Amino acid sequence: MKFSSVIALLLLTLLVGNALAVGPGKVLEFSKSSMGKVTFSGQIHKDAGFACNACHKPDLFPKMKQGAVAISMNEIYAGKLCGSCHNGKVAFDAKGNCNRCHKK
Ligand code: HEC
Ligand code: HEC
Ligand code: HEC
Repeated sequence: MKFSSVIALLLLTLLVGNALAVGPGKVLEFSKSSMGKVTFSGQIHKDAGFACNACHKPDLFPKMKQGAVAISMNEIYAGKLCGSCHNGKVAFDAKGNCNRCHKK
């Protein structure tokens, strides 16, 4: 490989690294529910040991864009979306723990 392409590759790696660093620091607010606003912390979920593709995959939250997937409690209770983890096994159960997500 030519020296210039090694440099290009290094730069690319750095850029990709920085793009990924956006995630953990992100805080998303879901404020449509009458139960109160839900704050999703990228950092808490990263600290829990999840890589980006634990959630950003076809059957969960495919797009890194808030609002791409509409979230309902029926789906959460059915073990989908947030409920694929918030089921009392991987993380605290959504049922009975409303206030750990919803804050007035
Ligand atoms: C525990 C699940 C989870 C993990 C892990 C996760 N994300 Fe997300 N991320 C979400 C959800 C949920 C959304 C909102 C998607 C939607 O509304 O369809 C989101 C949205 C985003 C957005 C868009 C934010 C906006 O303002 O629209 C970016 C960028 C993003 N994630 C980057 C990352 C990166 C980078 C990583 C890894 C470092 C990561 N995410 C890990 C769940 C996760
Ligand atoms: C890949 C698994 C996974 C997904 C998907 C996921 N979470 Fe979590 N979440 C966790 C784990 C693990 C914790 C750490 C707490 C625990 O162990 O119960 C956590 C913690 C939280 C906390 C912190 C609560 C507290 O009291 O500290 C909130 C709020 C939360 N999640 C909301 C959400 C929301 C909203 C979604 C969907 C947009 C979501 N999570 C999707 C695994 C997940
Ligand atoms: C793991 C986090 C989490 C927990 C726990 C949770 N919710 Fe939610 N809930 C959400 C998210 C995210 C939304 C979507 C809000 C939005 O789109 O703005 C939502 C939406 C809602 C909505 C409006 C949409 C709908 O499906 O009706 C209601 C009502 C609601 N939640 C009630 C509850 C109640 C009651 C509990 C406890 C039994 C609860 N939630 C527990 C994350 C959670």
